[in-house]
Amino acid sequence: MTKNQKLLDWVNEWTEICQPDNVHWCDGSDEENQRLLNEMIKSGAAVKLNEEKRPGSVAFNSDPSDVARVENRTFICTTKEDDAGPTNNWMAPDKMKAEMLESYKGCMKGRTLYVIPFSMGPLGSNIAKIGIEITDSPYVVVNMRIMTRMGQKVLDVLGDGDFIPCLHSVGAPLEAGQKDVRWPCASNIDDKYISHFPETNEIWSFGSGYGGNALLGKKCLALRIASNIAKREGWLAEHMLIMGITNPEGEKKYIAAAFPSACGKTNLAMLIPTIPGWKVETVGDDIAWMKFDEEGVLRAINPEAGFFGVAPQTSMETNPNAMHSADKNSIFTNVGVTPDGDIWWEGIGHDCPAGTINWKNKEYDPESGEPVAHPNARFTSPASQCPAIDPAWEDPKGVPISAFLFGGRRPHTVPLVYQAFDWNHGVFMGSIVGSEVTAAAIGLKAGVRRDPFAMLPFCGYNMGDYFGHWVNIGENAPDKSKLPLIFNVNWFRKADDGSWLWPGYGDNIRILGWIIDRVMGKVDATETPIGLVPKKEDINIDGLEGQAEKMDELLEVDNNAWLEECELIAEHQQKFGDSLPKEVKEQYEALKKRLK
Ligand code: OXD
Ligand code: MN
Repeated sequence: MTKNQKLLDWVNEWTEICQPDNVHWCDGSDEENQRLLNEMIKSGAAVKLNEEKRPGSVAFNSDPSDVARVENRTFICTTKEDDAGPTNNWMAPDKMKAEMLESYKGCMKGRTLYVIPFSMGPLGSNIAKIGIEITDSPYVVVNMRIMTRMGQKVLDVLGDGDFIPCLHSVGAPLEAGQKDVRWPCASNIDDKYISHFPETNEIWSFGSGYGGNALLGKKCLALRIASNIAKREGWLAEHMLIMGITNPEGEKKYIAAAFPSACGKTNLAMLIPTIPGWKVETVGDDIAWMKFDEEGVLRAINPEAGFFGVAPQTSMETNPNAMHSADKNSIFTNVGVTPDGDIWWEGIGHDCPAGTINWKNKEYDPESGEPVAHPNARFTSPASQCPAIDPAWEDPKGVPISAFLFGGRRPHTVPLVYQAFDWNHGVFMGSIVGSEVTAAAIGLKAGVRRDPFAMLPFCGYNMGDYFGHWVNIGENAPDKSKLPLIFNVNWFRKADDGSWLWPGYGDNIRILGWIIDRVMGKVDATETPIGLVPKKEDINIDGLEGQAEKMDELLEVDNNAWLEECELIAEHQQKFGDSLPKEVKEQYEALKKRLK
């Protein structure tokens, strides 16, 4: 328990408003976890998986209306609209709070209010932050126990200190005697809100029980709120994986990498090298918090303690480390459950057994054309279970970052890898990250969907100011010579006939190898208008049949294609108006000049 008066007052205040039947303070113990799981299995909300095949694991199906983050109902609530910027939904804090308060009144009737004390980052680390989540979802409790350090030990460290209050309700009160549904949530999309109040460090979430909408430590705290704190305090909260790479000489470097969703971030974080002598170890697969140490080295921690990974297409072929992370003690959401009590999803690597129950809780019908698992089905697994977890992954000091990688899915124009000339050029590179989308895929105009720094849905303030913050980090670095080098990669370039030019997956170590060589000053590069591109002979393609003929095309920088790209970049930059830093604008002008 706690004597923290601010915390006790806050919980009391919301208990009165939400009117739950019970209040439970989570201690994070095994017994508590087991009790909650058993209750959910008993009620039918969860399915217990086969204890031999998937020990300690359960599966949930969500409501079909509640399957992903709801970006159009995600708000940044600042006094001035301009502080939320052109890429966020905005509402004034007072107005949002008044509106949501009406929703919260009595919203937990018939339910238990759980108080979840959690730490983002190793407990007691000076980079870590403590949050307290109030929720009426036991599903959230058991997920938060995997994704964060959670329970009484957090209250012990908190003492009477400050915390980030995170309020969550699924928004589905029960009348006396009313039977609960398997996945309670607000039935109407307009009743869902994921609201952030960066001026007061508060999160209010209502109406959804899924992923980042409900596990408030992840996207809400560790990115949207933390990006604000990081800007105020001069550090970085980024949507980046962190990995350690060791070369055959035994030299080890850490890198951090940002890619938009669905570009294989988790796969890269857990990559198994295809060339002998190399080793990759995982620190994190989604979020990095980074600060300079006394020596001026930028150090990163993974604020999370687990993976909330996309299940479909994950297999022993594509990502054995992720598969093993989910061997046991895991929670699966919206996957198929096989007749023998195991899980199945599209791309798992074997056929779907007859009688499998799909994510809509119906028997799988191969004729229907409907998928067994929802495309955004997830596994929640402890990071400690990853066979490739880095020995320093919980080091409170963090790991030293030597390079940043950006990238997206770009079938054309963007070479396999190139390096920024300097920090501000790298910031420009981050600001134009994007993936090509086809018109069919999202029902919008086909073209490049820009996702600057892969932070579009996660930057908690004006994105133009965010670019400026990156410029300032370089400007104010204690020792500029120790700043990470910045690279852009593109595993997804295609030939004219539509075939992939690069094998990807474990072979990406060949490119990481070049990057590490650049970091250590072992190889030269070719200067092009867009940046520094590898000399063909410096990329190890031993054993890759037919690859040599593709390297020219893969590394090609076509000035005309880039001049066309410049027009798209100009359109993108326009969105930011006056908030676009002059340094980033200058980078664009300089690029255009080099291309002409
Ligand atoms: C995630 C995402 O779920 O980036 O990590 O969407
Ligand atoms: Mn993510």
